[in-house]
Amino acid sequence: MLVSAKEMLTKAKAGKYAVGQFNINNLEWTKAILQTAQELNSPVILGVSEGAGKYMCGYKTVVGMVNGMLEELNITVPVALHLDHGSFEGAKACINAGFSSIMFDGSHYPIEENIEKTKQLVNACDILGLSIEAEVGSIGGEEDGVVGAGECADPEECKMIADLGVTMLAAGIGNIHGKYPDNWQGLSFETLDAVQAKTGDMPLVLHGGTGIPAEMIKKAISLGVAKINVNTECQLSFQEATRKYIEEGKDQQGKGFDPRKLLAPGAEAIKATVKEKMELFGSVGKA
Ligand code: 13P
Repeated sequence: MLVSAKEMLTKAKAGKYAVGQFNINNLEWTKAILQTAQELNSPVILGVSEGAGKYMCGYKTVVGMVNGMLEELNITVPVALHLDHGSFEGAKACINAGFSSIMFDGSHYPIEENIEKTKQLVNACDILGLSIEAEVGSIGGEEDGVVGAGECADPEECKMIADLGVTMLAAGIGNIHGKYPDNWQGLSFETLDAVQAKTGDMPLVLHGGTGIPAEMIKKAISLGVAKINVNTECQLSFQEATRKYIEEGKDQQGKGFDPRKLLAPGAEAIKATVKEKMELFGSVGKA
């Protein structure tokens, strides 16, 4: 059964580790992530962007697929199904479709409007027992057409949003989605420290997990990050393994064209990436 992300993140913040959010794109992605979480006895959050939701034929299809897998694969670790960077309408659609967690990204609105919209969704999630993530200070880079400049959040604004009763808070600290450019300045730990000082026990969320050096990840966790989002890195692992399979001509040998064979190395590569991240984040054995 899907669970809200509240309990797993409260435990993570108190225990000084982070739970990974891994974005899903299809059945292979979902299966690889769930199996790895179960194998490592780790809680996990499956992230679904609005674009990926559309690609997978809508949120109800996603809910059906994930719930089916939890049962058929005997997944017993805590799993949350979470909307990633949702619009107000997208958040409502996911609540109705049976997601256990949503993110409302109002970071591009003036703060008053972000507060107003977040508040409405907090009320709905409270009634239904879902977890809700809000965002202050947009995350840089591009994800599914949502482009952000990589701002550093204002700690005062973070407090205003945290006080609305959200479950977790994404604060921009110079992080961006996708690969980091060579001239990237690194995470602003000063901002993170100031945000945590204002928001206390609130689990903080680090987006753009792909390509952040291990030492920065560890420091971010020590300063209150309890959820880390990873998307691009699984895509790159999948791509590399699939390219290798085809370049080695394996798709042309025997039944190598069978999609179950063709997509297998990519799925194994996703598992390896998820395992590496769960070990780094410290969530192994914390289910
Ligand atoms: P990356 O694609 O950089 O790993 O970021 C993922 C993310 O933050 C999803 O919200």
